Amino acid sequence: REQIEDLRRSHIAEYPDFPTPGVLFRDITPLLRDARALRDVIRYWITLLPADIEYVVGTEARGFVLGAPLAYELGAGFVPVRKAGKLPGSPATLSYDLEYGSAVVQIPEDSLPAGARTLMVDDLLATGGTAAATLELTRQFDVELLGASFLIELEGLQGRRKLPDVPLTTVWSIPD
Ligand code: PRP
Ligand code: MG
Repeated sequence: REQIEDLRRSHIAEYPDFPTPGVLFRDITPLLRDARALRDVIRYWITLLPADIEYVVGTEARGFVLGAPLAYELGAGFVPVRKAGKLPGSPATLSYDLEYGSAVVQIPEDSLPAGARTLMVDDLLATGGTAAATLELTRQFDVELLGASFLIELEGLQGRRKLPDVPLTTVWSIPD
């Protein structure tokens, strides 16, 4: 656990004023490119998760990078929630508000069987807008929603408030 905490300091880079002034950007790429650290974090992360997960739902783009290895380690399937215009067929679509402007996300048709034990994951819980939209799409399938899990939670932004009634787990919670 202490070791995992150290990895946050050593492997998550911080960039002030990116992408806009006043925002402190957390960059996960140093973690992703360190083979040992990536494996340690994924293996620690799965110990925090509920049992018998059948599907992991992750949001483009960073939710793919972390969600796929989690699903693989868990022996679960992976379902991508994509930004608009990338999915064939008749994906379910949802637009949601961001701090500035709005975005559209989609989930493949017939992604999840009713009752499937499903976990949502992403790299970051900031304002909670992305996770709330992803969960709303996921819920359209009448799954058994086991929770949402994040590598990093920025507690000060109170994204949790947008996710009531969902058990949340985080690897790293940061106060500011
Ligand atoms: C980032 C991050 C989370 C989201 C968190 O994604 O990966 O998905 O913001 O912010 P929120 O809680 O305020 O919604 P972003 O859309 O910036 O880009 P990505 O494609 O790199 O994941
Ligand atoms: Mg993202």
